[in-house]
Amino acid sequence: MPQETQGVIAGGKGEPVRLETIVVPDPGPGEVLVRVQASGVCHTDLHYREGAISDDFPFLLGHEAAGTIEEVGEGVENVAPGDFVILAWRAPCGTCRSCLRGRPWYCFDSQNAKNPMTLADGTALSPALGIGAFTELTVVAADQAVKVNPAAKPEAAGLIGCGIMAGLGAAINTGNVGRGDSVAVIGCGGVGDAAIAGSKLTGAHTIIAVDVDDRKLEWAKEFGATHTVNARNANPVEAIRAITGGNGADVVIEAIGTPETYEQAFYARDLAGTVVLVGVPNPEMRIDLPLLEVFGRGGALKSSWYGDCLPTRDFPMFIDLYLQGRLDLERFVSETIGVGDVEEAFHRMERGEVLRSVVVF
Ligand SMILES: NC(=O)c1ccc[n+]([C@@H]2O[C@H](COP(=O)([O-])OP(=O)(O)OC[C@H]3O[C@@H](n4cnc5c(N)ncnc54)[C@H](O)[C@@H]3O)[C@@H](O)[C@H]2O)c1
Ligand SMILES: [Zn+2]
Ligand SMILES: [Zn+2]
Repeated sequence: MPQETQGVIAGGKGEPVRLETIVVPDPGPGEVLVRVQASGVCHTDLHYREGAISDDFPFLLGHEAAGTIEEVGEGVENVAPGDFVILAWRAPCGTCRSCLRGRPWYCFDSQNAKNPMTLADGTALSPALGIGAFTELTVVAADQAVKVNPAAKPEAAGLIGCGIMAGLGAAINTGNVGRGDSVAVIGCGGVGDAAIAGSKLTGAHTIIAVDVDDRKLEWAKEFGATHTVNARNANPVEAIRAITGGNGADVVIEAIGTPETYEQAFYARDLAGTVVLVGVPNPEMRIDLPLLEVFGRGGALKSSWYGDCLPTRDFPMFIDLYLQGRLDLERFVSETIGVGDVEEAFHRMERGEVLRSVVVF
């Protein structure tokens, strides 16, 4: 039986989000119904509400979530009712050209639920990143639900479902940060701080945090930054070079998504260094770089979708590191809020007051 619940809807470009009654269908074959326990507010939700990702309004926002399996559809074997899961926006199909080449973390045809959740009048909703988790009940493809140790707190575990995984993976998987490396992270929100935590986990030697907000820089130190630069007071390229003996960092991670900060990342890396773009730009943005510098500096300019993670491999591992006390996921949770408080949480995010506000049910 389809069920009614409340969900956070972005109805039009730039409009404040609103709580509305939504209809959640039964899980179809290969799908699961999830009872969401916690769902983080990620900057990507705000990008959706601003129309920066696509025009498929209305969106059901929320995509950084943990919960329990309520019901499984026909043929589901990876999870059972009662299992504690993190929802993933990458569920490799196994059959696209990337999966067939043994690179499922780039899957080009990730699975989602087929039957849409709707408004009460039947209008189909576009779930953010194929999830839609600012609602107590949501339907996703079974492979989007990744079982992890239920000892984890839901509000911390859910963060592994998007931004924190994206940051950890930008450093560990995409940037391939290793022991002794120097790393600079531009933008120290939840994603950037996770890149800092990931760099520390892999043994980076120098970790430079760059932000425009001193409070963010203080938090970045708690995740492992060895140096901080306030880009309002200092030229970040010069500052990063000065800290790295005049050379630039081995890996520079851009975690904002603007041309200005991408250029800083480009010029702040050492010869043969790597730039990782994990911040999400909007469709109007352009960069203008001297091609000779692109060539002459060598190294790699990469982008990182979801930290190039493989959820079934990485989610349980990071949850275990958290439970062992080696990755402070709870430190990313600035506050827990109700499902009606998402619009206010966006404003707190814009004012730089939080790393993550997490909706709890
Ligand atoms: N690639 C992915 O898979 C993925 C996943 C999740 C989020 N994201 C993206 O990552 C970006 C960061 O997300 P978040 O949730 O951490 O956002 P956030 O708003 O919490 O953090 C952004 C940080 O950048 C800082 N900042 C802004 N302008 C700056 C400047 N000019 N110089 C230095 N610092 C500046 C802010 O003070 C803030 O601390 C967003 O674009 C988001 O969409 C990407
Ligand atoms: Zn695939
Ligand atoms: Zn996100």
